[in-house]
Amino acid sequence: MLTQEQNETLCRVGPGTPMGDLMRRYWVPAALSWEVPEPDSPPITIKLLGEELVAFRQTDGRVGVVGARCAHRRAHLFWGRNEENGIRCVYHGWKFDCEGACVDMPSEPEESNFKDKVHIPAYPTVEAGGVIWAYMGPPEKKPAPPLFEWTQVPATHRGISKVWQQCNWLQALEGGIDSSHINYLHGGKPPGQRYDDNTVAGRARNLSGAPVIEVVPTDYGYTYAGIRTLGDEGNYVRGYHWIMPWYQLRPGIPSDSGASGHMWVPMDDENTIVYNMHYTFPEKAAHDHLMDPSEASTPVWFRDAREPVGAGNAFGDDVDPSDNFRATRNMDNKYKIDRELQKTTTFTGITGTNVQDRAVQESMGAIADRTLERLGTTDRAIINARRTLLKAVKTVQDGGEPPGVAPTYYKLRSRETVLPANVQWFEAMKPILFQIDGPKAPATA
Ligand code: FES
Ligand SMILES: [Fe+2]
Repeated sequence: MLTQEQNETLCRVGPGTPMGDLMRRYWVPAALSWEVPEPDSPPITIKLLGEELVAFRQTDGRVGVVGARCAHRRAHLFWGRNEENGIRCVYHGWKFDCEGACVDMPSEPEESNFKDKVHIPAYPTVEAGGVIWAYMGPPEKKPAPPLFEWTQVPATHRGISKVWQQCNWLQALEGGIDSSHINYLHGGKPPGQRYDDNTVAGRARNLSGAPVIEVVPTDYGYTYAGIRTLGDEGNYVRGYHWIMPWYQLRPGIPSDSGASGHMWVPMDDENTIVYNMHYTFPEKAAHDHLMDPSEASTPVWFRDAREPVGAGNAFGDDVDPSDNFRATRNMDNKYKIDRELQKTTTFTGITGTNVQDRAVQESMGAIADRTLERLGTTDRAIINARRTLLKAVKTVQDGGEPPGVAPTYYKLRSRETVLPANVQWFEAMKPILFQIDGPKAPATA
């Protein structure tokens, strides 16, 4: 449970808000690289942290993320012409480069130097792993680029997709780090039905509906585990990382081949873009290149949104890139819930993991009222994330460096394993959670 004031602090992300100031200290995932595929390709509209922006790839290949409106009389630059290293407003022809400088002003007399005094907002960008990131904070505080392991593998061994979620970012983040709902929302069955005893996850679910959640704070956020008993077999442990402010890494299946992750990025206070990543670990990817492709280890990446709408992906998500990546299963059609399926086969009657997440998270309201919650023991990771975020807000207000800015997260991996019941998971899993050349755990906060 939070006070109204704490909830407001965590959820409001626009310019000048406390959380907005904190978020502007990190690289912000802005778009997928393929959305601006080549030099001089059409600009796109994006919304980040409450700001209306456009992104475009200049003739020289650099990507601009700039204020959406022309400095002259505020026409939207989405209609603009992307040509000769800049975007030209189609109203009176003023042109801006990716640094926001007005580089041409054909509607003013030739001898005028007015253009030299005109700028629009512009943010530095980096591209890595098929994603364009923008830095929207104080220039002198710009961190090292966000080179997560998944950004460093060949494009053939990585998949990334995105979808618009119609609620505040924190609901989406909290849903993602909440390991306990997997038993119900996603894998759940109607009462009385058993899970598959031939799999570790199935046996764990048959034995326990309530995982123990343990959190270990680190200098980037925290690492945490969902621990499910397997009786005499030991414990089934899923190890995750939460990296400030909006990243999660989670174990893949199988977890020694690759991993997955999410980024929950606020468009504004009531809308979020959810990115889904999957990748094969570099050593596996390198191994694959030595093999006949037909013998390569099973890829863990999936179709992206360029597939025709209706094709679906591993999460049952069909999104429409021309409608801001809105899912075809959405609140307007009740996520196409099938009540018969719910009665006989699945817990929700809703098809698709991400669709199930969105259905419950959007149902909490545009901004969930956290003054009315009743949190339990499995909400431990959520409680810790809120506390860490509120503390980081204060750190920034006091002029300090928030966690997760320094690049101690580059080599993190998420893994799952089975451990003897008397073995402490964090110590035992350090070599595989903090890899790559052996145990290198970041200093704990
Ligand atoms: S409004 Fe853009 S050039 Fe006039
Ligand atoms: Fe989920």
